[in-house]
Amino acid sequence: MRDMSSQAALEAVEIRQKAREAWRNSARCIGRAMWEGLELLDARGACGHDEIFEACLRHLHYSTNEGRIRSTITVFDPVPRGQRGIRIWNSQLVRYAGYPLGDGEVLGDPAQLELTRRLRDLGWTPPSQPSAFDILPLAIEVPSLGVKLFEIPRKSVFEVRIRHPKYEWFEKLGLRWHALPAIADMALVFDDWKFSAAPFSGHYMVTEIAVRNFGDRERYNMLPAIAEGLGLSTRDRTSFWRDRALVELCAAVMYSFKEAGVAMVDHHTAAQQFSSFVQKEESLGRSVPGDWSWLVPPMAGSTMDLYHRGYDPSRPEPAFKYQKAAWEQAVAGASIAAGKCPFHSGRG
Ligand code: ARG
Repeated sequence: MRDMSSQAALEAVEIRQKAREAWRNSARCIGRAMWEGLELLDARGACGHDEIFEACLRHLHYSTNEGRIRSTITVFDPVPRGQRGIRIWNSQLVRYAGYPLGDGEVLGDPAQLELTRRLRDLGWTPPSQPSAFDILPLAIEVPSLGVKLFEIPRKSVFEVRIRHPKYEWFEKLGLRWHALPAIADMALVFDDWKFSAAPFSGHYMVTEIAVRNFGDRERYNMLPAIAEGLGLSTRDRTSFWRDRALVELCAAVMYSFKEAGVAMVDHHTAAQQFSSFVQKEESLGRSVPGDWSWLVPPMAGSTMDLYHRGYDPSRPEPAFKYQKAAWEQAVAGASIAAGKCPFHSGRG
């Protein structure tokens, strides 16, 4: 059973500090220089699905800040470690649906095939004209109440249409992306506590969208179409059509975010900021936990100082931890929710 009295003793400033340290400890994150600027929205006490959803919308609104993105974490009621707490099923607050078309073809984001299927199983109906960028509903699970789905109003999601500063044909590809990456399925853990729902967000680094989300063969797989636009032969590997397409994708994504007034960092600047962070940490006598294969950006890595060194393999807490996919542990029979909040209805 949850120990409400000791949870109440957790002060918001203490949680904020632990969350900042968890960010500082995030071995895979190149953006940690900003760790002390993380802001906390304290949504403990949010009772039941609807209030949790409201807090998620508040998070989107506050962190997006019309493009002047604020690094933000929202915390919901924690549980003692080992217990099952509130879960957001989506990996991020904003995700685009992936629809199987048969023959292994996918419309939308292939990384969201499974979540999309789960949401449909829970009763979600895709738009009558499915597109490559349909925003998935949020699935919010409250222990003992089950899962409930919420459509995110279009106006709550800042999106950027991708255009190229020089090539007019680029816009016709119909690419767009959301301004805010807001991780929703990791747990913030420290001491005996697990915040199993604690969405956090900051600004994007250009390569996350341009190189990985658009470039990966298992994602939107846009490189062949871009090479074609550039007039490059995709039959000749040594035309370096993939490499050239990646550069132009970066140029387009960076330009479009800037034009839309949305904060974004390029990978060279991010790497520089990261190196200053490492220097500062080491001067304070702290070693920097790091995962080289994640820290090195997926383009131009060897041009950056961070490529040419190693990192501390330890994984200290406070930490943001992966959790098992929520549906793999979903309570049998839990479905669309109804009922009262178990924590604030007078039951001990
Ligand atoms: N790489 C993920 C994405 O493309 C986002 C991960 C978090 N990134 C960040 N800049 N905070 O959606």
